[in-house]
Amino acid sequence: MPETASTGARPTILLDCDPGHDDAIAIVVAARHTELVGITTVAGNAPLDSTTHNALVIRDLLGVDVPIHSGAAGPLVGEPKFAGHIHGESGLDGADLPTPSTPLDGTDAVNFIIDMCRSTQELWLVPIGPLTNIALALRTAPDIAHRIAGISLMGGGTFGNRSSTAEFNIWADPEAAHVVFSSGVRIVMAGLDVTHQFTATPDRIAAIRSTGGLLGTTLADLLTFFSAKYGELHDDGALIGGAIHDPLAVMALSHPHLFERVARHVVVETRGEYTRGMTVIDQRKVTGRQTPNCEVLTSVDAAAAFDVVLEAITHFTAPD
Ligand code: BDR
Ligand code: CA
Repeated sequence: MPETASTGARPTILLDCDPGHDDAIAIVVAARHTELVGITTVAGNAPLDSTTHNALVIRDLLGVDVPIHSGAAGPLVGEPKFAGHIHGESGLDGADLPTPSTPLDGTDAVNFIIDMCRSTQELWLVPIGPLTNIALALRTAPDIAHRIAGISLMGGGTFGNRSSTAEFNIWADPEAAHVVFSSGVRIVMAGLDVTHQFTATPDRIAAIRSTGGLLGTTLADLLTFFSAKYGELHDDGALIGGAIHDPLAVMALSHPHLFERVARHVVVETRGEYTRGMTVIDQRKVTGRQTPNCEVLTSVDAAAAFDVVLEAITHFTAPD
C-alpha cells in the first residue's frame, strides 16, 4: 500500500488541464499553494485550441510566470469528445475574458512533461482532464514512472457523470486512463464521490465576487454559468451548485489533512458495452482482495477547502 501523503508541505507539481471552469479554480490554488513547474493542456472540456487559450487567460489573470505547453488534441483511440453541455462551446463560457497577452511556451506537452519528470525532484503530476498527455509521456519514457513522486488526478468514482458508470475525464480517454492506473506509480484519485461534496453554492460564489477585482468577478461569473448548467442537468435536488472537481486533486497534496482516503485496487474498463471508461474499484471487505494501487479520496472538509480557494483568489487580487 502506498504511504499516505500527510505532511502538507508545499508540493512540487505539474498541472495537466483542460480549462474548464473547475480547472480554472485548480490553477488558482496550484499557483498559490504549490511549486508549479508548468501547465500542460489537453483536449477535453473543449478542443485543444480552446483549452490552451483558456489556460493562457487564467495565467494572465493571476499574473504568474508559469510555462504553458499544449499537448494532445484527441484521445489515444477514437475521436475527441467535449463537454460543451457543462462548460459551453469555449470551455469557459459565462464571463467576458480578456485576450491573452502572453504567448504559448511550446506545443509539445508530452516532451515537456518527460523533461520535467527527469529534471525535478519529487514531482507530482496533477492531471485534471483526460489522461492522454500523461499516458503518452509514460509510454514514451517509461523511466519517468519511478522518477516522480506520484500522480494526483481528478477522475473516476463509484458512479458516473458522462455515462451511468463513467466519469468524463476517464470516459474521454479510457485507454490513457488504463496506462496511468496500471503504471505502478503512486496514484491519488479525486473521483466524483469526493468532488460532489465540494460545490459552488450561491453563498460561495457571492464570497468570490466580493473579493473584487477582475479575477474575482471573472471567476464568480464563470461559476454562476457552471452552476446554472449543473442545475439544469441534475434533478435530485441534492447538488446545490456545480461540483468544483479539479482543485481537490491539487489540495489532496497541498492540504492533505482536509481529506479522508482509503487504499483500493482500481482498474479502468476499456471494453464494456455499458461500462467503458468506468473506474472499477475493489471495495470488497474480504481477505485476499487485490493489492491497492490507488489512494481513493472519500471525503473532504468542504468549508475548509473553500476557505483555501477564497484565500488564494484574494491573494491574487490586486488592491484597488
Ligand atoms: C471533470 O470533467 C470536466 O468537465 C471537469 O473539468 C472535471 O475535470 C469532472 O467529471
Ligand atoms: Ca478538468
